[in-house]
Amino acid sequence: MTSRLRVDNYLDADYFDRALRSDVLAGLQLSPKKLPPKWFYDDRGSELFEQITRLDEYYPTEAERSILRTYASDIARASGADTLVELGSGAADKTRVLLDGLSQTGQLERFVPFDVSEGILRSSSRDLLEEYPELTICGVVGDFEHHLGKIPTEGKKLTALLGGTVGNFDPDLRRRFLHEIVAGMTPGDSFLLGTDLVKDIDRLELAYNDPSGITAEFNKNVLHVLNDRVAANFDPDQFEHYAKFDTDNEWIDIRLRSLTDQDVRVAELDLDIHFAEGEFLHTEISAKFRKEKVAAEVAEVGLELTEWWTDERGDYALSLSVLK
Ligand code: SAH
Ligand code: TRP
Repeated sequence: MTSRLRVDNYLDADYFDRALRSDVLAGLQLSPKKLPPKWFYDDRGSELFEQITRLDEYYPTEAERSILRTYASDIARASGADTLVELGSGAADKTRVLLDGLSQTGQLERFVPFDVSEGILRSSSRDLLEEYPELTICGVVGDFEHHLGKIPTEGKKLTALLGGTVGNFDPDLRRRFLHEIVAGMTPGDSFLLGTDLVKDIDRLELAYNDPSGITAEFNKNVLHVLNDRVAANFDPDQFEHYAKFDTDNEWIDIRLRSLTDQDVRVAELDLDIHFAEGEFLHTEISAKFRKEKVAAEVAEVGLELTEWWTDERGDYALSLSVLK
């Protein structure tokens, strides 16, 4: 059993601490203050994100799942892949629909989940090994920014980036990220990209402001991570969740707002940070797309968009591109 699972972890405690420290040191001294979103996803953050995906207000997960269900066999046939690489695989829940499509066409050999969160990568891999007795899993615990080059190169690959994760990068980083993804592909390999689409602002904002407060808790998790890992003394109750659609940039702008005038100490960095009442800490963006923009951005990195599928309501799109 175990021989069908290999997990390579590039995020040892040392890496984690160095990267987190430098992000915290730089980000909290910026104006406006800013932290990169990867620090949301410790075990608690991954669990909270899974809860988000089950909220009625958070439509992208079900929309993406319905597209995958309808087109999984088309995706399998068009890609001809025997290896599924999934970037930011998380709980790898929708992944099963893709794995089913690939195994029905008899091609499936290998699954390569890649995630910054080791706990969720290992638990989802263990479940998948039982459900897919023919499958070999080569997991990579790494950071998109540094370790995409560690992804095994063997097999005819379908590389998937689902969940709208591509929208969580600012445009410059996004270009670099797409470029690095393509660097690990071989001509003829395919890229499956999930993108949330521009729509009615009220529905967009509700998806990031659920009344039950789970999204707020997820957003604040980054403060818990800083408290745990760099001995900060944030009081999460002194911050509130903020998520609004920026119509110029067409992204949801996600922040934390300081409810009071307060000082926070980050003991391990010997850093004292002041927050004015109402001051923001920027934590994430979630860009919303149109077809032309996706086609242009993938073309820029040498991919050709060959398929564009949406759910019935036209809320969300999956696109398939091929490396020329
Ligand atoms: N694909 C899943 C999860 C999306 S949430 C879905 O569609 O529901 C984004 C995922 O990307 C999380 O599992 C998170 O741990 C991972 N992630 C975020 N930033 C990352 C980074 N810098 N490097 C690697 N993984 C990252
Ligand atoms: N990739 C998800 C998205 O952009 C991430 C996400 C969902 C998120 N809800 C969030 C990030 C709330 C921060 C806060 O939809």
